[in-house]
Amino acid sequence: MGVLPAQSFVKFFVLFLLVGESLANKGKLSVSYYDSTCPQADELVYQAVRKAAMGDQKVPARLLRMFFHDCFIRGCDGSVLLDGNGTEKTAPPNLSLGAFDVIDAAKAKVEDACPRTVSCADILAMAARDAVVLSGGPQWKVLKGRKDGRVSIAEETKELPPPNSTVTKLIQSFAKRGLSVGDLVVLSGAHTLGVSSCTSFSSRINTGNVDPAMDSKFATKLQGECSMLNAASGNTVFLDATAVKFDNNYYKRLTRGKGVLTSDQDLYNDARTRELVNLYGRHKGLFFSEFAASMVRMGNIGVKGEDGEVSLNCRVVN
Ligand code: HEM
Repeated sequence: MGVLPAQSFVKFFVLFLLVGESLANKGKLSVSYYDSTCPQADELVYQAVRKAAMGDQKVPARLLRMFFHDCFIRGCDGSVLLDGNGTEKTAPPNLSLGAFDVIDAAKAKVEDACPRTVSCADILAMAARDAVVLSGGPQWKVLKGRKDGRVSIAEETKELPPPNSTVTKLIQSFAKRGLSVGDLVVLSGAHTLGVSSCTSFSSRINTGNVDPAMDSKFATKLQGECSMLNAASGNTVFLDATAVKFDNNYYKRLTRGKGVLTSDQDLYNDARTRELVNLYGRHKGLFFSEFAASMVRMGNIGVKGEDGEVSLNCRVVN
């Protein structure tokens, strides 16, 4: 075999580096991903979320839940944001999502500052973090570099765990996405914020047949809040008594039978998860640090690299 001329060798070497680089970057996230291309991305998203949250206190809970629904279906690829017939957004579990306009507003600011650079999936990941911070919860560094998916299928949202799930089902659902029992318990703490429709737990509060796992006075309270008389409230109830404040009250309430959804209460009733509920109920600082770490892990699910795009409008594929 002849010796490669120096020029060919250099070309070969550069090609080798490029291929290696693009393989290594496939779906790889980093805190500094936009440091040179859009250093102001985090700040612009934060300002958009802050402005929206000041105008409407439902916004933080909505953004946090939206991120969970994005990550659990096709990975954290912004597929929950896509409009159109038969997209994830149109499916029953997502009909009660909201605050898509906040993502649009953040995206518009970011596109102005750094066109065609920051993905919608990353904007949602940052917005979920900001939602928690603005509600008094922990801060964490969001890993970035996700690309946006081009596919969104309503049917696939059946994979989201339903509210009547018991711990066995929940563990399976989280394990499928590489998340542990610990992640399940700590991420469920997101229900420290926001509301649930009465329909998501109505089978637990039937008169004369209240779920024995629920505190009876709490059941009566929920029956009142969900009655026709209160239809004006949109027939929703707070998931936690301090539902606009990110705290560990959610866990304390589970120990007293005051979880709203079966999927909440069963975390206390099942021996595999009870001790963690007790622990987070007693140690807010520990809950905060574990929640932050677990959000980073959830944000790694099914991340797209060069097989995705940076959508110019989060509602449509380029
Ligand atoms: C463990 C499995 C989970 C189940 C079964 C579940 C189910 C639900 C249900 C049924 C609702 C009420 C929806 C409605 O009826 O309108 C809800 C609300 C909410 N969920 Fe979850 N969830 C789970 C995990 C999570 C996770 C991991 C997060 C985020 C990290 C999250 C964040 C939220 C938030 C913030 C709300 C309130 C939304 C609002 O006020 O608009 N949930 N969840």
